[in-house]
Amino acid sequence: MMRGTNTLIGAVNFVTFLISIPILAGGIWLSAKANSTDCLRFLQWPLIIIGVAIMVISLMGFAGACYRLAWLLRLYLFAMFFVVTALLGFVVFAFAVTDRGQGQVVMNRAFLEYQLSDYSGWLKDRVSDPGYWAKISACLREGHACSKMTRYSRDPTTGLLVPESPDMFYRRNLSPIESGCCKPPTSCGYTYINETFWAAGAGMVVNDMDCTRWSNDQQSLCYQCDSCKAGVLASIRHSWRKVSVINIVVLIILVIVYVIGCAAFRNAKRADNDEPFGENRMSKSRPSRFQF
Ligand SMILES: *[C@@H]1O[C@H](CO)[C@@H](O)[C@H](O)[C@H]1NC(C)=O
Repeated sequence: MMRGTNTLIGAVNFVTFLISIPILAGGIWLSAKANSTDCLRFLQWPLIIIGVAIMVISLMGFAGACYRLAWLLRLYLFAMFFVVTALLGFVVFAFAVTDRGQGQVVMNRAFLEYQLSDYSGWLKDRVSDPGYWAKISACLREGHACSKMTRYSRDPTTGLLVPESPDMFYRRNLSPIESGCCKPPTSCGYTYINETFWAAGAGMVVNDMDCTRWSNDQQSLCYQCDSCKAGVLASIRHSWRKVSVINIVVLIILVIVYVIGCAAFRNAKRADNDEPFGENRMSKSRPSRFQF
């Protein structure tokens, strides 16, 4: 009698097992990306944990269905409920902490620039906390976040490799980290020499603390600038939004799976309760009461 139900739960769990793979992949993608650019290692953990949890839970449901273990199926539904709730919480949290903050368009520049005042809330406080920022900026420096943006072009007269011309640089698309951390803000009026070397202009207006924080020392650059913190926040926002799209799709599928699982389990239990006490299960063959 539980065969139909178990086949269904087994099949459904195979699907959830498959679902856990992209979640886990998303977490691992984030951690690989975090190491190279964002330097925020705490972000991928919620995803990896949820991915592993779904994987374990679906194996549990699969085993419960195969070996007809009602207690395991009950545990499975219970655990599944927690995972759905946690995933929902994570999606809401990810959108809530990244609700604000866009790059700013600058005149005659293809890249956007980032301002810390455009951001607010928990994530901003976390990133701009001095202790935490020291770790992030050290990681950016050690990861050579800025030296990767160096590009050369060949000088037509001498044939030597020289830095890109200012015009070419201004037409580039820079990542939020490159724009915020590797060059001074455009409004400071520095003159481009190469990507990470800028000469102070004649009548410079210092309208921004970041203008004085900028240093041509290749170990300092703008790593202490507010624009760098804003660049990191923009980068996180971008990654979290991408991952949240995966999570929303997964959440919808999991809710469907959960509803099917609950209905199947309830049917199985009702069928168990209907069974007359003391009946000889082994010898009696009965028609299946529940068709799936
Ligand atoms: C940029 O220019 C400065 C000064 O000319 C030079 O010391 C530095 O090596 C250059 N950086 C790169 C990446 O070419």
